[in-house]
This record gives sequence, C-alpha cells and structure tokens, in this order.
Amino acid sequence: MTALENARARHRSPEATDANLPVLAADGSVAQWTDRYTHAVMDTFGPPQRVLVRGEGPYVWDADGTRYLDLLGGIAVNSLGHAHPTLTAAISAQLGTLGHVSNFFGSPTQIAFAERLLALAGAPEGSRVFLTNSGTEANEAAFKLARRNGGTDRPRILALEGSFHGRSMGALALTHKAAYREPFEPLPAGVEFVPFGDTDALEAAFAVDGDQVAALFVEPIQGEAGVRPLSPGYLARARTLTAEHGALLILDEVQTGMGRTGAWFAHQLPHVGGGIVPDAVTVAKGLGGGFPVGALIAYGEQTATLLGRGQHGTTFGGNPVASAAGLATIAVIERDGLLHHVSALGATLRDRLAGTGNPLVAEVRGEGFLIGIELTTPVAAAVAARALEAGFIVNPCTPSTIRLAPPFVLTQDQADQFVAFLAAVPQDLS
Ligand SMILES: Cc1ncc(COP(=O)(O)O)c(C=O)c1O
Repeated sequence: MTALENARARHRSPEATDANLPVLAADGSVAQWTDRYTHAVMDTFGPPQRVLVRGEGPYVWDADGTRYLDLLGGIAVNSLGHAHPTLTAAISAQLGTLGHVSNFFGSPTQIAFAERLLALAGAPEGSRVFLTNSGTEANEAAFKLARRNGGTDRPRILALEGSFHGRSMGALALTHKAAYREPFEPLPAGVEFVPFGDTDALEAAFAVDGDQVAALFVEPIQGEAGVRPLSPGYLARARTLTAEHGALLILDEVQTGMGRTGAWFAHQLPHVGGGIVPDAVTVAKGLGGGFPVGALIAYGEQTATLLGRGQHGTTFGGNPVASAAGLATIAVIERDGLLHHVSALGATLRDRLAGTGNPLVAEVRGEGFLIGIELTTPVAAAVAARALEAGFIVNPCTPSTIRLAPPFVLTQDQADQFVAFLAAVPQDLS
C-alpha cells in the first residue's frame, strides 16, 4: 500500500466508500507532486521540501513513504501532533452538526471558546475576544484597535526591530524586515521601530510626544527573528511606560501562546512577563491544533469596546468548526498535563542540545517547546537539509539559527534522537 492509500484506508468512513469523489488527490511520488506544485501553486514559498501525505502524533510521511519526526510542528501549530483522535472527532462532530453560520448569528462553540480564552488569559471583567482565522488577521484587528485609541491624536505606533507580525498590510507595517515590507510600500502610516529589548530606547521613544503613541506591539519572545527573548524587565518597563502615556500594550503571542512555552501565554511566565497585565494579546498558530483559528483578546471593558459595531468583521472568524477545534485543543492540553510536559521536557531538551559537545552549537535558548539553536557559523540551512535527510523536520529561521517548535506530545526518546543527530553534525558544512 502506498502512503496515500494507507491514509485513505484509515480515514474512509463507511458512508463515503461508494463516492468516487476526488476528495483526496491521486497517488504520485514526491518528485511528481513537486513538479505539479510548481505549475499550480504560486511561487511565494519556493518549492516544497517534500510533499507530505499523512501524519500521526509527532510524525509525518511523504508521498514516497518516508517518515519524518516533525520538530517544527507546522511552525508552532500542531501542538497535539498530527491526526489527534480527540481533535479529529471534535472537528468532525461539529461539522456534522453545524459547520458555519454567519456573524449575524452566534453558536455555543464560538461563545464557549471565547469564554475559555478569556479565562486562560486571566482577563478581567469586561474583557472580550475577536475571533479570526490567522495570526496576521489577529494583528490586523489589533492594529485597528490601536487606531481607535486616540485616532488622529495618537498617530504613533511602536514596534520592535526584528519583529514579525504577519503579511497583511497592517501586520506588515508592524513587521521590521525590510525585504518583506519594501515591495509593498506605502504601508499604513505611523509605525516606528525601536531597538529590540532596549529599555533606554523605549524610554526615549516615549520621552518626546509620548502621548501621541497609540500602542506598542511586542512579541514576548521573537520567533521568526531566531527565538530571541526580551531582556529581563523589558515587558514590565513597557507596561509602565504605556500606562503612563495612555498607550496600549499589545502582546503578539501568535507563536508563543497556547502552551508553546509551557504556560498558556509566555507573558504569564513570571521571568518573562514580571506579572504584567497587557491591554491586548493576539494568538493563532497552536490555538486550533492545526485548524486555522486566531484571536484578539482585549483586556478590560475600556479596551474591549474600542472596536464598536460595524468597525470590524470577518466571514469565517468565530466559525463553529474552528471554535470546536480550539476548545478540543485546550481540553487535551489540560487533560494530558501538556503544559507541564512542555515545560519539563523543553528544559531537558535545551540542556541536552547545549551539552552535545558539538562545537557548531554556540547557544541554545527559548522556553518550553520554542527552542532556538544558535550555531557558530551561518550554516543553519545546511544543517536543516541534513536533518531532513536524516528524518527530522527543523527550521533554519535565520542563517545561523535552527528553530524547533515540536508537538507537545513529543517524548523524551524522540527528542533524544535529534540530540544524537545534532551531536554528530560535522562542522565543515557550507
Ligand atoms: C509572532 C507572529 N505573529 C504573527 C504571525 C502571522 O501569523 P499567520 O502566519 O497565521 O498570519 C506569525 C507567523 O509566523 C508570528 O510568528
């Protein structure tokens, strides 16, 4: 049986057997699929490294039947691993009951999901959620929220150098990397970038016209920039300065949220957040365990009512199936004690990665299952290519950084297999 036939056999329901509908594509090799990809899919990502046909737990299989340990988890998305039975059942049950309603209507899953998010966030009375389909949309909503804080009297919005907030125009305006921004200028105006993790620079940004700042956007740990933690005390200082000047403190936890760091939100880790309460948090990626869903959580009545009726919308945001996926993902993380597992195994894994004795490894950083391996030379792409050949999916997020964001179901044994691989990577890669 080919990998695809295998996948079909596992998921074919009795009712579906007679329907020769092209629900799953026909068979093909990785090479054949890659060729078809280049003719059908817009070339924004480059050619796929492999074409994958199925997954189970922390493993995925390509169209040639080769298995990989997925240490990237769809870039911090597949928190429960692949094809998790509880998530699959929850999504199927919701789709078989009520798949979509317009936002002229509510659904119990949507409402319960928003309530769960508020509870996990520890958000005070009066807080509210706006549900989206992705991280960039969550940040787009947050950008509009910021604009509503003072309007034209507060034209300034601060973001950090190295930031990544998404690819739609508002989120892109908040994203620092010139190569992403410049082809699309002019972007929404008013965004200023301050040096990363530098409290003096932040003080300076507020020292002149500080009352014209509508919001400060911060990732508690910069993911795309190489799993970079903020300096200790940065968020606490940011909280004080924004509060003093009436600006919103908006935390982008799209990558760091929903258990990725061993806490529901990274800023809830005392050594990261120092006990602060933000004005808003954006979240997506792991929120639906692989189903597209995002959210803007606004803290407190005042912030939560900045966006009024008719001022924002989305057809799919709050979709019952996406909400069911979110609820199921949260339930499994709680039931299986995965926050503790991520915290404990993440610490062990970071120690073991740092202790391989391979001189290629300069530093290992991160929290929980968001890990950056800093190399002594810019050979991250070559290391990732070797890893793929050896059956591990990892990501060279900068020329010298390997990022790991594995599913929360990863075991110690599986993690150790990658540690052994890293220990043996030769130094003379180019
Ligand atoms: C911190 C952060 N914010 C926003 C985004 C954008 O999310 P999405 O790709 O779902 O639009 C990402 C994606 O990598 C991210 O890491």
